[in-house]
Amino acid sequence: MKKTVGDFESAYDLEYKAQAGNDEAKLANEKKNDKQIILNEDQLEAINTLTGNLLILASAGTGKTTTIVERYLNLVRNQGYKPSEILMTTFTNKAAKDMIEKISKKTDKLPGWAGTMHSLFLRILRENNSVVSPKGQFTLITDDYDKKKIVKQILEKNKINTREDFISYFMNRIARFKNTGVLPGELDDSAISGEEQEAELENKLVEEIIDDEVIFIGAKIKNYGIRVYKEYQQYLQDNNLLDFDEILLKTYELFQKYPLILEKYRNKFRIIMVDEAQDLNVVQIRILNLLEDNNLCLIGDDCQNIYEWRGSSNELVFKFDKSHKKVVLKENHRSTANIIAGINKAIKALDFKIDKQLICTREKGSKIRIEGMEDFNSEINYIASHAQNLIQKGVKREDIAVLFRTNYIGKQVEKVFRRSHIPCHLSRARGFFEREEVKDVLSFLKLKVNPYSMPDFERVSKIVEGFGRAKLEKIKEITRRENCSYIEALSFIKEVTKDQALLQELERLRFLLKSDEHPLKAFLVGLKYIDKLNKKYEYEEYKLEEKHENIRLIEELFKGHASGLEGINEFLDELIELDKKEKTKDKVILSTIHSAKGLEWKYVFLAACNEKVLPFYKDSLTKIKKDSELRLFYVAISRAKDFLIISHSARNDWKELDPSRFLGILA
Ligand SMILES: Nc1ncnc2c1ncn2[C@@H]1O[C@H](COP(=O)(O)OP(=O)(O)OP(=O)(O)O)[C@@H](O)[C@H]1O
Ligand SMILES: [Mg+2]
Repeated sequence: MKKTVGDFESAYDLEYKAQAGNDEAKLANEKKNDKQIILNEDQLEAINTLTGNLLILASAGTGKTTTIVERYLNLVRNQGYKPSEILMTTFTNKAAKDMIEKISKKTDKLPGWAGTMHSLFLRILRENNSVVSPKGQFTLITDDYDKKKIVKQILEKNKINTREDFISYFMNRIARFKNTGVLPGELDDSAISGEEQEAELENKLVEEIIDDEVIFIGAKIKNYGIRVYKEYQQYLQDNNLLDFDEILLKTYELFQKYPLILEKYRNKFRIIMVDEAQDLNVVQIRILNLLEDNNLCLIGDDCQNIYEWRGSSNELVFKFDKSHKKVVLKENHRSTANIIAGINKAIKALDFKIDKQLICTREKGSKIRIEGMEDFNSEINYIASHAQNLIQKGVKREDIAVLFRTNYIGKQVEKVFRRSHIPCHLSRARGFFEREEVKDVLSFLKLKVNPYSMPDFERVSKIVEGFGRAKLEKIKEITRRENCSYIEALSFIKEVTKDQALLQELERLRFLLKSDEHPLKAFLVGLKYIDKLNKKYEYEEYKLEEKHENIRLIEELFKGHASGLEGINEFLDELIELDKKEKTKDKVILSTIHSAKGLEWKYVFLAACNEKVLPFYKDSLTKIKKDSELRLFYVAISRAKDFLIISHSARNDWKELDPSRFLGILA
């Protein structure tokens, strides 16, 4: 039977419920099969140290995450703590998912406050919305596309070339300001005359790597960082929007401005545990300093600091190292001896570190394999066929991962895997949110919650036939004139058009935005979105089916939420952790090294281990930069439990390549 969307009591519901039942059965089964870990002495010491600040410091695979999960269990099971009294955070959504799953397998109660800092602090902001956002509920910019659009508008206004790489540069610059706690008010941009020639901005393009993406930017463009940041912040404020980094800044501001609110959370969280503490950024450190009451446990490995380009630092780890109780875990329980020998060599080669060596608890295992190929294509083909062989021999797909330095390599690997029919999952943080239909639905929901959001109004209004650019500008003008929201502006619609059909459509939009009807039904059926989609993609069946599939996924995710504003808001907030829900079972994982943090696989392929890729640099490599790339290399190789296969190639298209200098360290 062909499934339809927008049909709220459809067969699809039954299918979904059946699937949910399956998941429960699987979880129960996994609970039974979960191997019993016997904790070592150091781990026991960490678990039983319950008072005072504590640092658990150790290299990769020594059971740091295992230890804090066990510490949590000890607190809840034996020490009388309630799940809601423990704040437990980690860095990536994937690691958070891993942590929560481990706890859920061992207790019947879900941890109350476990997740990424962004998701937990967002909850705190919502709980205090009346002071955080007096204008009404704020909404989040959930995809880079919207952020890009805003930055693009600002660049246009400032007559700066809007090429993709320049936009990426400014987005990263904004994020860096925010993550290092620099507020627009503290910056002075008066030094820029605004008369720099465009040509000058573009001359001498410099290569940089930003968010695992290689880009080319003009040297002079950097002068505009402050101005673009200021205008971007103003835009967010005017539209009652927050981006991810802003969640942290706002939380810090909330605690600083309202001591009583801070006090409430200081009393509430009797224990705070922070995994991957080496990657805390300045704002997170400031928040923790406010929240902490001699009850903070940091868990980390200074050598795994890999986000310093986003403003993260070892600062708090070093401070704790000097002034608080420290437990060092030495035994590695993850990897075989041959792999550990390589990991130890990588740590040794770092110039800046708190020195530590790993002791192996496992057998010798296979040697680290290093494979050199003629060119990049043959290298990826080699990885794919090797993985295929393993799978045919009975290795589970989810036990295999391919890691790489840049997104570009990932996309190439994905292509070859798909061509070879190997099911794989490329971690692309927010890909789902970039789809047209997903953005349309979400914009409607966001607009209901935050009727001040211009990007969302723009998107939703495009769905209304006959509502063009000029009319949109008029509506914007009305919001300014009346100092009102977009929904309110729609009541002045007669000023904008005389066309009866259009008037009716816009009246319907206004009604649906305000009505209590189920919001998805309002959008999909009430606004006839499904009909419009079906018509638009009438001759592209495959595309249309994919779009229906995505909308079904949204419906699936929305289930369990009330249809009022509060429910919508809850749903939207949960989406920031969408990859927690991604199904990676039975798939080979393709991941950047950054996103592989904290995770482990039996078989790890490290692809494109070439000079100027890993380590990434352009002309020369400073000592500091070398260390930062070497830390990435260390994180990559320490993901492997049983087999590590590192490959490199001599050429990529016309470009000659050298093997990475890091391979020399392993020799
Ligand atoms: N005492 C133990 N006995 C046996 N296995 C253990 C023990 N402690 C941890 N492990 C296992 O060792 C592996 C690594 O543990 P874990 O992921 O907690 O390490 P980690 O220090 O957090 O690593 P990373 O630095 O990569 O985040 C896991 O498979 C875990 O189940
Ligand atoms: Mg860990």
